[in-house]
Amino acid sequence: MRVPVRRMRRLRSTAAMRRMVADTTLSVDDLVAPLFVREGIERAAEIPSIPGHFQHTVGSLVAEAERLAGLGVPALVLFGVPEVKDPEGSRAWDAAGIVQVALAELRQALGNRMVVIADLCLDEFTSHGHCGVLARDGSVDNDSTLELYQRVAVSQAVAGADVVAPSGMMDGQVAAIREALDSAGHSEVAILAYAAKYASALYGPFRDAADVTIAGGGDRCGYQMDPRSRRQALAEVGLDVAEGADMVMVKPALAYLDIVAAVSSAVDVPVAAYHVSGEYSMIKAAAERGWIDGAAVGIEHLTAIKRAGADLVLTYLAGEVAEAIHG
Ligand code: PBG
Repeated sequence: MRVPVRRMRRLRSTAAMRRMVADTTLSVDDLVAPLFVREGIERAAEIPSIPGHFQHTVGSLVAEAERLAGLGVPALVLFGVPEVKDPEGSRAWDAAGIVQVALAELRQALGNRMVVIADLCLDEFTSHGHCGVLARDGSVDNDSTLELYQRVAVSQAVAGADVVAPSGMMDGQVAAIREALDSAGHSEVAILAYAAKYASALYGPFRDAADVTIAGGGDRCGYQMDPRSRRQALAEVGLDVAEGADMVMVKPALAYLDIVAAVSSAVDVPVAAYHVSGEYSMIKAAAERGWIDGAAVGIEHLTAIKRAGADLVLTYLAGEVAEAIHG
């Protein structure tokens, strides 16, 4: 007897049919735009390894945020580059620091039209480029770093951040930050925890953008996760939720879709994924050579990240995808 052929192609016949049966939708509502602000520059400078993105002045930052808000992008995540770095990264919690000044201006200009997320880390501010302060042996001292993160969190909340996003992968950082925010009267500020952040080679272009060089050719393998571990990602996420994270993040995104999927079925808080600088730059570089259709690959990447279970995606493609959808 002939095996009946199941006609899968019936539901692929027209664009409207495919749209009707799709189970994954990429929406501008899911996108968070990363933006960089640099202290002490006169005009915005394009970042060569993240084409189309800039180290902004406060003025050009606000203009770009306004443009994104107009395109319907609901959120931005801010990174700051200070003029002066020191071993502790003290400009990170300076009330007159570049991030604090920029947050206040963004708040003023945007009101509540965009969610303003402040990346909370020290690597952009430390002279040695690590995400925390160093112990005598040169390793990153976890618990002294937590105290500094608490100061940064409170200063970012005072400046107007809706959400702080600790990205340093120190143990106990979410609990420490939650406690500091609450005791300073900022219980309304949410925490987006970079929960499963891997030590990835895909952050290269970001380090150009944030002007970060790790001293002595070092790396972050002593605090960020080993790409060979899946189990630890679930442990990290569980700890961050227990410590009070309002949202958790997996980073990078594409090479870690298994982690995104596992995390999204394990937790009941929103799950973010960060399509990082290297993921963006690979698309741009190949598209520039005419080897791929960059716009199509971008949409395919972001759709895959959503399909894996992410609720929101931090992506350098936010502006152009919003333009393509609403433009
Ligand atoms: C650390 C931080 C990094 C990124 C976001 N926050 C770099 C790192 O861990 O070295 C990378 C983001 C990207 O590559 O787009 N503050």
